[in-house]
Amino acid sequence: MKPTSSAEIREAFLDFFAQRGHLVVPSSSLVPEGDPTLLFTGAGMVQFKPYFSGEVEPPSTRLASVQKCFRTTDIDKVGNERSLTFFEMLGNFSIGDYFKRGAIELAWEFVTESLELAEDSLWASIFHDDEEAFILWQEIALPATRIVRHGKEDNFWGPAGDTGPCGPCSEIFYDRGPDVGCGQEDCAPGCDCERFLEVWNLVFMEYDQDSEGGLTALPRQNIDTGMGLERTAVAIQNVGSVYETDLFAPIVAKAGDLVQRSYGDNDVADRSLRIIAEHARAVTFLVADGVLPSNEGRGYVLRRILRRAVRHGKVLGREEPFLEEITRAVIGLMGEQYPELSDRQDFILGVLAQEEKGFQYTLGVGSALLEDLLADISYSGKAQIPGEEVFRLYDTYGFPVELTREMAAEKGLELDEEGFAKAMVEQRERARKAQAFGLARESEFYRPLELPPTDFLGHERVETTTEVIDLATDDRVVDEVVEGEQVAVVLKETPFYAEAGGQVGDTGKLSDAGGEIAVSDTQSPLPGLIVHYGNVGRGSLHVGDVVVAKVDVDRRLDIARNHTATHLLHKALREILGEHAQQSGSEVAPERLRFDFTHLQALSDDELHLIERRVNARIRDNLPVVTRVTDYQTAIASGAFAIFGEKYGERVRMVSTGDYTRELCGGTHLQATGQIGVFHILNEGSIGRGLRRIEALTGRGAEDYVHRSLLLLDGIASKLGGSTAEVEVNLSALLSDMESLRKEILELRRRLGRIEMSRVLEEVREVDGMKVLAAEVEASSMETLREMIDWLRDRLGSAVIVLGAVMDGKPGFVAAVTPDLVDKGLKADRLIREVAAVVGGGGGGRATLAQAGGKHPERINEALSLVPDLVTGR
Ligand code: ALA
Repeated sequence: MKPTSSAEIREAFLDFFAQRGHLVVPSSSLVPEGDPTLLFTGAGMVQFKPYFSGEVEPPSTRLASVQKCFRTTDIDKVGNERSLTFFEMLGNFSIGDYFKRGAIELAWEFVTESLELAEDSLWASIFHDDEEAFILWQEIALPATRIVRHGKEDNFWGPAGDTGPCGPCSEIFYDRGPDVGCGQEDCAPGCDCERFLEVWNLVFMEYDQDSEGGLTALPRQNIDTGMGLERTAVAIQNVGSVYETDLFAPIVAKAGDLVQRSYGDNDVADRSLRIIAEHARAVTFLVADGVLPSNEGRGYVLRRILRRAVRHGKVLGREEPFLEEITRAVIGLMGEQYPELSDRQDFILGVLAQEEKGFQYTLGVGSALLEDLLADISYSGKAQIPGEEVFRLYDTYGFPVELTREMAAEKGLELDEEGFAKAMVEQRERARKAQAFGLARESEFYRPLELPPTDFLGHERVETTTEVIDLATDDRVVDEVVEGEQVAVVLKETPFYAEAGGQVGDTGKLSDAGGEIAVSDTQSPLPGLIVHYGNVGRGSLHVGDVVVAKVDVDRRLDIARNHTATHLLHKALREILGEHAQQSGSEVAPERLRFDFTHLQALSDDELHLIERRVNARIRDNLPVVTRVTDYQTAIASGAFAIFGEKYGERVRMVSTGDYTRELCGGTHLQATGQIGVFHILNEGSIGRGLRRIEALTGRGAEDYVHRSLLLLDGIASKLGGSTAEVEVNLSALLSDMESLRKEILELRRRLGRIEMSRVLEEVREVDGMKVLAAEVEASSMETLREMIDWLRDRLGSAVIVLGAVMDGKPGFVAAVTPDLVDKGLKADRLIREVAAVVGGGGGGRATLAQAGGKHPERINEALSLVPDLVTGR
């Protein structure tokens, strides 16, 4: 039966390809794991890149998926009728199986027979000199008149990221009829208008692009295809735009309700509604995949579109928060297909609501700053706001540029757009650089060497005898390394664990009779390849030497304690805080473990205590830790946690601790939880909105910690003059002694102050019939000076008083003029400015009370002696 709804289209697609020998693979996360060249998953092929490049063997040579995608390419165009950031891509893939003919045949059969799109409404485009595709299309489906040729821009796809698999492509277009679009005689696929809808892209993937843009043939000829679900729904459901398909209509309607508008009434409002609907959908999916608002990288993109949606709510007159409600509509609509949305609903809503609130606040602060800036600029007679200022408002305060532009225009000013664009490019560059991690360079080094994958023996043993197959030092491949050199060593097989999944790499020794290398780190720059980094401590080693590779076992066990404890902690967090508390990162080192997870509030002491107790109880249960190698589906079906956004091969290791937890994990573990000994949480804190971090200790680390803490306590006890049991009592006694001493000191100071004040009172003189007092006093702060002034003013009733004091080596003054004398024209602020000028300072205040500081304490008396003259001079 012909599918109509989007759910039916997805199902028809997967069924069609499953029946034709394709393995259906679930969508991977929007955050591509382990791929530093990519910000987001923007195509179905992303999770299969290692299969195309030949680095990893695929579980099947035919694959199919419905992939969540996010692209930033059209971000600024969102609001028109077809540009999207988030979309779903239906794809079938061949890894060295069928090629051009198979791909075209399958696609044609699906669109004409399963989707029942009319044959004469279909067109194809091909890469301009791809004669093979031109002939195949004619043989299989289309007259030459409905095949168009396009250049590299449109019909050469890839790569996803800076480097990787790519190739010429061929697209299938759906003709919506002459009534839609520009109406020109020669309108054809490729025209800018809306008539021809590009629905499916078939990539004939046969090249690998290097970082210089050079192409080399891939080991196999592959097929990568992508069919946009939203556009396909437009064709099938025969509606005007993606916003009217069942994928969007309920979201647009919800947005309309919230701002009291109906879609279709007004062009300008429609645009805002589309932006709100599109961005709300995208942010919901991004947060579900662990992206959180921030000022860089992925989080920055998320923040930007979220703010844009909120702003368009404002444009439509909505002042109160509204994202939460739209997000509920998105989850209601998509939660069945993407259970991660429903499972994490509370968390997603919480993150978005917080960010929306934060942004409302930002808009307030930003407007105030911009007002100031605009006033300054108008005042200085300039007509442009400097690009860096616009960027600063945007970047630091998150203030939208459109708003800056709008508010500037109201004052007849414009933005330095060029300067702003430059600042933006620099920012993007920074974000891009921050993304790439150090290993990327190492992988560039090792890729061309084509070394065989290293056999990893570390799950079974910690020592082995094996052969050196590659040596490098100073970024060069060498045959021999000698004492003192920093080296990178590849072995035929190894018990050394390479850093992965948060667990640090092993250390240890590689040695034979002729030499020894102390390994300080182990990494895996390419899938399957393990590299030992270290220093030659003795003699020399050569390629081909047979060495004993021996892991530092004590350290390995410390790491294993922390790793097994991490699994217990993860489970305990979910039990106590809720299922949304999911791992977003971890670092398992010998000395401690660090666990990052998604949760909105700080943990209470009770919660922390409960978590710690729960983990320790499972340690005492001495649960067996068992590892089983199985396939992904079986593991997930048995309830194993798959870490957010991690990519797993078809065969996975599932680590279980009794019946308590199951996790997919490649790390090294203990035999039973009892070996952990004890688990102790060191601290808990926020590492970003909606993200928390726990640091904890186990085994030897916890033992050391207890030991050190007790030593400290002993030290304190003996300083307090008693046993540790008496510490609390003794400390309380000490604190209360201190409190009475403090009171006594205060009282004595007061008394001294009064004596000082009586002395000062003697210095009052009559000037022109007014009481004038100018004196240097002892005071520790401006506040004390002001108190003195108050006291003196009460005593004197009507007077001019100026007190000066040296505080922290600097002179300071406070002046007071009683209101009756202010009426006679005397002003404390004027007086104090003149006095302060003598000590090289300045100050200000009101006519009745003012204060000042300065630089030269030695001139205090000279300054004060001016006072009588200043009073008579008035
Ligand atoms: N990877 C291809 C695309 O995204 C199918 O268009």
